[in-house]
Amino acid sequence: MRSITSSREWIAHYQANAANQLPIPWEAGAQLTTAQADAIIPSLRAWQLGETSEGVQMLAAARRYAQQAADPEFVEAVKLFIAEEQRHGKLLGRFLDLHGTPRLRRNWGDSIFRKLRHLLPNMECWTTVVIGVETLALVYYRAIMEASESPVLRTICRQILKDEVHHLRFQYERLALIGAPRGPVARLLISLLQRVLFAATTIAVWVDHHRALRAGGYPFRRFWQAAWQRMEFHWHQMRPDARPARLANTPPELARGDSKTVVDFQLPADA
Ligand SMILES: [Fe+2]
Ligand SMILES: [Fe+2]
Repeated sequence: MRSITSSREWIAHYQANAANQLPIPWEAGAQLTTAQADAIIPSLRAWQLGETSEGVQMLAAARRYAQQAADPEFVEAVKLFIAEEQRHGKLLGRFLDLHGTPRLRRNWGDSIFRKLRHLLPNMECWTTVVIGVETLALVYYRAIMEASESPVLRTICRQILKDEVHHLRFQYERLALIGAPRGPVARLLISLLQRVLFAATTIAVWVDHHRALRAGGYPFRRFWQAAWQRMEFHWHQMRPDARPARLANTPPELARGDSKTVVDFQLPADA
């Protein structure tokens, strides 16, 4: 089994990251044209709601897992991860306030997820769902970044993307560790289930957010390809024989754009 980042190292990462956030030029105002707002604000309201979950059930699963795995510090790492997601929710919420748009209280996708999450029995199931959503978030925030010239929104997206790259590593390392003892048949079955779940999640995100994705330059085919390309990379990283992540592994889809963005998508070197 290749080495993974320890829970203690994750705690240090999340703490350092919380203290090192990009400055957001709030004083610039929302700066969205009516057409841009029509395309992205309804979607941002729904996404903002999804980013504000308190993570109570996930934390309960993390506590049980930490005990089984004799890794007590994992609980604190998950707490800090949830806090980072809530920070995303706060940033997006503040942007909606700046734009003068009320925050959403309910949304069909969010309501379904809030019901289904009671059915997620353990950390592996939680992590499998979360890694799918976060993979789609990489494409989504990239699209939102491209969909307007708003300096505030673009900086928020950049911050979230920077955070999410680490979140994804946090998830795939854990899944690699949990899946390591399995044989090839169990591995194949699980990978089929992961693909079915990811296809369903990708379609659900498209249904709810296609206007915003299109506005950011992601018609369905490009969105689907970008999502699967990135997810395949994460699945590959879960394999026991995976090589350490390098920038070369970053799909060109995500490494496109100005040089700062390319740097943002550099994956951290394996521990
Ligand atoms: Fe997030
Ligand atoms: Fe995340």
